[in-house]
Amino acid sequence: MTQREVPTQLPECIEAERVYLRRYRLDDGELILRVARANRDHLAHYEATNALRTITTQDEADAVVRRFVEAWDKGQAFFLGAFHRSTDAFVAQVYVGPTDRKLPAYTIGFFADKDHEGMGYVSEAVRAVFRCLFHELGAHRVRLECDDSNVRSARVAERCGMVREGHLRENKRNPDGSLTGTLLYGLLRSDYPSADLLESPRDRRSQRRTL
Ligand SMILES: CC(C)(COP(=O)(O)OP(=O)(O)OC[C@H]1O[C@@H](n2cnc3c(N)ncnc32)[C@H](O)[C@@H]1OP(=O)(O)O)[C@@H](O)C(=O)NCCC(=O)NCCS
Repeated sequence: MTQREVPTQLPECIEAERVYLRRYRLDDGELILRVARANRDHLAHYEATNALRTITTQDEADAVVRRFVEAWDKGQAFFLGAFHRSTDAFVAQVYVGPTDRKLPAYTIGFFADKDHEGMGYVSEAVRAVFRCLFHELGAHRVRLECDDSNVRSARVAERCGMVREGHLRENKRNPDGSLTGTLLYGLLRSDYPSADLLESPRDRRSQRRTL
């Protein structure tokens, strides 16, 4: 039996309730420089290796944007900015990386803009990305790894229906030498806790209208 052909590229724009996500464009250098400067300290502990933390100048920001665009075009990594629908303010970033084309499986990562933390935008954006991965890209599995002291990140994972699959205890050191562990989260197609996660808000609205 031949397998159904599924796209391997995320859509360039993903709509959610309060936010939309879009891939970065070559002219996003100024945005990325602003985001990088505003979030340098915010990302220091749990996202120490985030590419945005390497940026101090406009040239460096432009180079990172070029890398994001190239990685997207090659289908190697998908970096999406999440923006508020009414103000267009940058509120978060979601990363999606293909890890196994045959399964297919993906890994995700995210951060909230420091001035937009605690408002539910990350969970909303991640749910929208899950819908896309399972509906449009035929994902079988999505995983997330987070530091075991990163309570906010674990809460996003669990709010979005991910299942805690493991806990690697004291498997790495912080820059100050202290030990820390890693939580492993996964979401299978069959884990969807309710149709709410699977359907887009628009699907739900049009379904309600036809009832
Ligand atoms: C981890 C991180 C992304 C979590 O961000 P966050 O803002 O807590 O996540 P959300 O946007 O989903 O917001 C959820 C919070 O908004 C609250 N909230 C407020 N208004 C809301 C609304 N209208 N709708 C939904 N939630 C709302 C929720 O109650 C929740 O608060 P709680 O966790 O105290 O219960 C963020 O702390 C971060 O960027 N950390 C640094 C980088 C990082 O750790 N990245 C992850 C590496 S694995």
